[in-house]
Amino acid sequence: MKKLIIFSGSGMSAESGISTFRDSGGLWEQYRIEEVATPQAWKSDPVMVQEFYNLRRKQILGCEPNNAHVLIAQLEEKFDVTVITQNIDDLHERAGSADVLHLHGNIRQSKSSGPNQEKAYFPIDGWELKNTDLCPDGFVLRPHVVWFGEEVPMYDVAMQHIAEADILVVIGTSLQVYPAAGLIHYALNAETRYLIDPNAGELNVPKSFKVIPMNAVEGMKKLMEELS
Ligand SMILES: NC(=O)c1ccc[n+]([C@@H]2O[C@H](COP(=O)([O-])OP(=O)(O)OC[C@H]3O[C@@H](n4cnc5c(N)ncnc54)[C@H](O)[C@@H]3O)[C@@H](O)[C@H]2O)c1
Repeated sequence: MKKLIIFSGSGMSAESGISTFRDSGGLWEQYRIEEVATPQAWKSDPVMVQEFYNLRRKQILGCEPNNAHVLIAQLEEKFDVTVITQNIDDLHERAGSADVLHLHGNIRQSKSSGPNQEKAYFPIDGWELKNTDLCPDGFVLRPHVVWFGEEVPMYDVAMQHIAEADILVVIGTSLQVYPAAGLIHYALNAETRYLIDPNAGELNVPKSFKVIPMNAVEGMKKLMEELS
C-alpha cells in the first residue's frame, strides 16, 4: 500500500463551522494571540486562558466532521494513511481516521502545567477544565495545546512520516505558522503532492504541487477522482 500523508490546517474544519485562524471573521481576530495562546498569557492570567480554551472546546463539541474529514477516513481502504493535523479539534478522529498526529495538541485533552508536561495527557470530560483541576503531581491542568513560542514535541515524528510519503496532500493551511509549515519540504520521496485550498494561488508552495483551488469538501471529492 502506498503511504499517503494528509497535512491539514484550520481550513479543514471551516465547513464544520470552526473558524480558521487568519480568514476575516476568524476567531483569532477577536483576541490578541499574546493574550490567550502563549506561556506568558498562562502565567499572567490562567483563568482567562482556561476560559478561552473552554469556549473553543464547547464550540468544537457542538460541531460535526464534514464530508472532507469523512473522505479522508475512507482513503484508508486504499492507502496507508497518516493524518498530520495542526488542528486541535478531534474531527479527523470522529470521522473515523485511525492514525492522527496532532502537531499542536488536542483540545479534548489536558496536561500538567508543571515540569513534566509531555509525560501524560488526560482526557477532559465535557467542555470545561477548571483551574482547580490538578494533575497527579499536584500542578494545575492546562489544555493540551502547543502555544506560540513553545516547542512542537511531535515535530520529528511528523517529519519522519512526511519523508516516507508516496503521496502528500496539504489541505486548508496558509503555511504561515512555523515550524509546522516547514514540514512540506521534507516530502522528498513523494511521487505526487497536492494542495487543496480556496486561496491556493496566494500560498507559497513549490511548483511540484498540483493545486486544487477549492474548499476542503469539494477539493477532497476532486482528489478522490484523481487518485482513483
Ligand atoms: N480547528 C482548529 O483546531 C483550529 C482553528 C483555528 C486555529 N487553529 C490553529 O491555528 C493555527 C493556524 O494555522 P493554519 O495554517 O491551520 O490556519 P490559517 O488560518 O493560517 O489558514 C487557513 C487556511 O484555510 C483556508 N481555508 C479557508 N476556508 C477553507 C475551506 N472551507 N476549505 C479549505 N481551506 C480553507 C484559507 O484559505 C487558509 O489558507 C494552526 O496551528 C492551528 O493549530 C486550529
